[in-house]
Formats: sequence, structure tokens, C-alpha cells
Amino acid sequence: MIIDGEEKYVMTVIMAAGKGTRMKSEKSKLVHKIYDKELVKRVAELAFQVGSDEVVTVVGHLREQVEEVLGDSVKYAYQDELLGTGHAVMQATKYLEGKSGKVVILYGDVPIIRKETLENLIVKSFKNKEYATLLTAIYENPTGYGRIIRDEGGNIKAIVEEKDANMYEKEIKEINSGIYCFDIEELLSALKDIKPNNAQGEYYLTDVIKIMNDKGLKTGAVIVEDNTEILGVNDRAQLELLTRVLRMRINAEHMRKGVTIEDSNSTYIHDNVIIGVDTVIHPNTTIKSGVIIGNNCEIGPNAYVREGCVIGNDVKVGNFVELKKAKIGDRTKVPHFIYLGDTEIGEDGNVGCGTITCNYDGKNKNKTVIGDRAFIGSNVNLVAPVTLGDDVLIAAGSTITEDVPSNNMGIARERQTNKPYKKK
Ligand code: UD1
Ligand code: CA
Repeated sequence: MIIDGEEKYVMTVIMAAGKGTRMKSEKSKLVHKIYDKELVKRVAELAFQVGSDEVVTVVGHLREQVEEVLGDSVKYAYQDELLGTGHAVMQATKYLEGKSGKVVILYGDVPIIRKETLENLIVKSFKNKEYATLLTAIYENPTGYGRIIRDEGGNIKAIVEEKDANMYEKEIKEINSGIYCFDIEELLSALKDIKPNNAQGEYYLTDVIKIMNDKGLKTGAVIVEDNTEILGVNDRAQLELLTRVLRMRINAEHMRKGVTIEDSNSTYIHDNVIIGVDTVIHPNTTIKSGVIIGNNCEIGPNAYVREGCVIGNDVKVGNFVELKKAKIGDRTKVPHFIYLGDTEIGEDGNVGCGTITCNYDGKNKNKTVIGDRAFIGSNVNLVAPVTLGDDVLIAAGSTITEDVPSNNMGIARERQTNKPYKKK
């Protein structure tokens, strides 16, 4: 990370050793997903997005599942016995020793912190020369959380856990999110002084704050503006809640940029989707990560726009349409009951109701390429690999297995015969 023109070292430690009992799952809590992406992967990606040079994940319970998801993008430390958050960080000390810079502490089950919030925390920590910078929040009901103890001047003195707090401390509404940015050398030194002499008999990472203050080392805090950012996942209801929070956040961002969403509650736009201005998203639409949609399109209702789709301007993708790896040219209409997979279609086309690409032969996914101004009649099967030129007409009900050159009509269906019939 560059601070005032200087390259600074930042490491992130992700705590991911917990059991996650309340998920009632055979899988690690951390590999459960929000919008197709594992919780712990969201956290690791966030760590890299804010400029971490290295990420260390402290794993324990069902570690192999976490390792399978993160692979060698991160380093691993092992915590076999859960003796507290301080103990978890101690397991990562071998990666921290000999380094100078900052270490950010994140949790594998706190996955929707905004990148900007974390960047702000790290930058403040460097610029104000704080040895510990805490991310805190104001909670109307702070029960269960560590409370932030400040002196009369507002300086942070310590964090007191709920179970160790006296009646006055319990009144404090500023809570510890558990996310911090520490000076690496002073954290290592303070970790040596943590003792499990508290109500839970744990090594509390939170004790580091008092230890640093007692040494006269400056500490500080950033109060998070949006409390939903620091929500964690302990059970399936919270998993749903966080998915909803993320959905509303992503949808609001698209609306702010000029996209109309008729019903945010039933519109599922995954991460990293680009949508142009004046595009209207009708209800019950899912748009997967990485999809690009142009300006002034109509999408839905009941549309499923999957990975790898690139949709031009003024395109209509109507009801019960599924698109996968489909590139759709400007002004083309894909209005109803259509599946296009591994398909490229040019401009000003029209795809009839009930048309599907037969893109999968049981082994491979094959491509369908369609030129400009194509008119595909209703209920057409396009058996890939197949290429259709410009200005083609495909007769309704055709099963197209051979390429159709430009300016040709393709027709592939049984001729109709009428036979005398009399109702008995
Ligand atoms: C912690 C903080 C508390 C804060 C709260 C925010 C401490 C002592 N307290 O409390 O001030 O308000 O988070 O949610 O840090 N973990 C490990 N190994 C361990 C212990 C914990 O990996 O040995 C992981 C857990 O899986 C979990 C996270 O660390 O993801 C927090 O642990 P937990 O024991 O739930 O902390 P809290 O008691 O909630
Ligand atoms: Ca605990």
C-alpha cells in the first residue's frame, strides 16, 4: 500500500478456526456462500483489494475445506485448540516476525465490510501513527460485545468484554467490531503479555489495547457508519440476512448509477456486474457475477443472466429467458422462453419464443454463432456447433444442425400432411 508516496507493508490475518456449530452443517461455516462466493473467500478477496501484501488464514476446524477454497492464494497458520482470539493471532506470529508495517485482523465469518471502510482504517492507522486502530460501532443494544473504554478526552484506553464488564461499562454503547489495524512489531510484543486471567479463561486479543496504552503507545478508532458492514454469520438466518444486506447494497449502487430496478427485493445482482444507464430490470431477475449489460435494455421479469454474458445497448431479454456465456448485439430481442448458451448473436436480431441452443453434447459445450439481423422463428433448436450468417431466416420449429449462410433461409422440419378425420 502507498501512503504519502511511500510503499508500506500490510499483512492481513483472517481468523477462520471457529466451529460454526449453529449452522447445523456438515460443512465449515466459512465455505457457505453469499451470492455464489464462500464467506472466507469474500474476506480474502477483500484483504487483497485493500492492498495486503500477504494474507495469513488461521484455520482449525474443517481446515481442509477452507484450504480447498482459498488454495495457495494465502498462507496458513493452524490453531488446534480455540483458546481465544489472542491465541489465534499468536499462531500467525511466524509470518509476522521480522516485518515492519501493519497487520489487519479480519474474520472469515464477517464477509461484507466495505473496501472503503477497511482502506480508511488502514490509512488512518498509518497517517496518525497509531499502534492500534480499532473499527468500532455504536449499538443501541451492545449486549454480548466488547465495550470501548475511553478517557474524558475521548482517547481509547481498553476494551472490556461483556463477561468481564462492570455495570457502568455495560452501559457503554460503543462496541468492538473485532476488526483492527495493528503495528506489527508492537502487536508481537504485546501478544507476549496477554494472559488468560479473565471470565472466559481465554487469551483475549482485545487485551492488546490496554497493554499498548500502558506503554504509552498511541491507539485510535474509526467508528463504522453503516453497522451492517460488521455483521457476522453464525447461523443460516444470519446468512440470509447478510445476503439481503448485500443485495440491497448492490442494487442501490446500480440505481444510483442510473439503472431502474422495479423490485429490489426480487432482483439478485451478484458482485461485479456492470449495467448501463436507463436499463430496466424487472422483478425476479438474477444476474450473475461479471455480467455486462449496456444502456437502455429491458431485462426480465423472470430472467436468468448467468456468467459470461455481455449484452449490448437497447437489448430486450424478456421473461423466462436464460442466458449463459451469451454475447448479444445492440437492439437484438430475446423476448420469451429462450435458452442461449455459449452463443454470439449480432445486432438487430430477433429470437423467437421457445428457441434453444443445444450447446451441450454430454461432454463438451459447443458454440452457436449468429450474424446480424437474424430472424429466428419460434421453437427452433440450434444444435451447436453451428454458425448462422447475416440476414438469415430460420423457419419456426426447425432443428438446425448445419450452418446457414448469409441471406439464406434455413428450414428443417417435417412437411405437414392433412388426413381426413371425423370426430366420433
Ligand atoms: C470478539 C471480541 C469482542 C468483539 C466481538 C465482535 C475478543 C476477546 N473479543 O468477541 O470484543 O466485540 O468479537 O464480534 O476478541 N476465533 C478463533 N480462534 C479462537 C477464538 C476465536 O479463530 O481461539 C475466531 C472465531 O471463530 C470467530 C472470531 O474469532 O470468528 C471471534 O471469536 P469469538 O470467540 O466469537 O469472539 P467474541 O466472544 O464474539
Ligand atoms: Ca467467545
